[in-house]
Amino acid sequence: MPSAKIVFPLGKYSKTIPNTCQQNSIGETVVILHKLEMTSNQTLGAALVGVGRMGQVHLKSMIDSGRLNIRWLVDIPAQHGLMAELIKRHRLTGETEISDIESSQKVLSDPRVDVVIICTPTPSHYDIIKKALTAGKHVMCEKPLTLTVSETKDCYELAKKLKKILFCAYNRRFDKQFNTLYQRYKRGDIGNLRMVKFTSREDGPGKEYLQNNRSGIFLDMAIHDIDYVCWLVGERPSSVCAFGSISSDNSALYRSADDFDCVTAILNFPSGVMANMEDTRAARIGYEQKVEVLGTKGLIQTRNMKASELYSITQNSCQSEALLRSSEERYVDSFPTELNHFINSIEGKEENLVSAESCIIAMEVSEALSESLKTGSIVRL
Ligand SMILES: NC(=O)c1ccc[n+]([C@@H]2O[C@H](COP(=O)([O-])OP(=O)(O)OC[C@H]3O[C@@H](n4cnc5c(N)ncnc54)[C@H](O)[C@@H]3O)[C@@H](O)[C@H]2O)c1
Repeated sequence: MPSAKIVFPLGKYSKTIPNTCQQNSIGETVVILHKLEMTSNQTLGAALVGVGRMGQVHLKSMIDSGRLNIRWLVDIPAQHGLMAELIKRHRLTGETEISDIESSQKVLSDPRVDVVIICTPTPSHYDIIKKALTAGKHVMCEKPLTLTVSETKDCYELAKKLKKILFCAYNRRFDKQFNTLYQRYKRGDIGNLRMVKFTSREDGPGKEYLQNNRSGIFLDMAIHDIDYVCWLVGERPSSVCAFGSISSDNSALYRSADDFDCVTAILNFPSGVMANMEDTRAARIGYEQKVEVLGTKGLIQTRNMKASELYSITQNSCQSEALLRSSEERYVDSFPTELNHFINSIEGKEENLVSAESCIIAMEVSEALSESLKTGSIVRL
């Protein structure tokens, strides 16, 4: 049984109401210190900035949660039609307005908005996060939080100063398999950790996505693995090294984006744990996601997910179903869980699981790996 975490909601604490233990949304035991002024049960008002692929994933979770009034959808003028169509499709008429990003000040100064959820391309995150925090809003932002370590630090300093929750959406931590693996390791099922091995393969992304996000394979794709392994090990790696290549049938695309479509990396942790990561883009086989964790007493593996668990046998073959095609399909259950966690942390019911420190570490490791890729050397952190 892991030791319980203590949750300090913002505000004053009661000396008379007894504290309670409860499980948070990922099954950890947490001690809740009761606040004197509990957050009211009023539904929070929300603005969603960016209604593309991830924006629509989060919009669905926002509606399904029943815990948010969606006051605004915000995007560039070219997405007006899409925003209107989303309002109609989800029956948000009367509740939700549309705004261009250029006029976002009216959204941020709307007192009915408590939270801003950011799903725009990565280079725009820094500016939007800072404006939203400064306007007094809690912020949930898609990964990676920003393009650089120093921008990420700035954002967390601002959030701390203004006493607002800043949550980086590392959804993999909220996935059932990845989360259960974490819990089992933490309760001692496999003894002390020795080796961690990741395989992350995806069939994408397209040209437009690469051009818009400009963050490179480590910051854009492998950051999920980096965040997860640092969270699991509970340490900052002491040294890292990486190799990369371009070998897909779409090599011109990666060359033009000054990126790689295959990388392999080794992370060395102070306790002696070693992690090995393979991240591959343009993998025509589909969305393959595996982690294997070897400890002194055992091993745990996650399994790839398929459209179904059907397995057929004929005289000549044994066949299982094909892999899922995208992160939205594979991690479908993680998005509502992470959103509930974000709302719980605003309401003081849970501690923000993706701490400033862990987010900064993941960014530092990603930067170090990109440097190793460029210089061909081992980078010490
Ligand atoms: N968690 C995950 O698994 C996951 C998966 C894919 C992408 N992402 C992250 O989500 C973010 C968005 O990626 P996406 O695939 O949804 O992109 P997308 O291109 O599908 O959507 C981005 C949307 O933002 C809009 N936009 C662009 N600039 C804007 C601005 N300045 N203000 C407001 N809106 C703006 C675009 O018009 C578009 O509607 C990226 O940071 C990416 O790294 C996370």
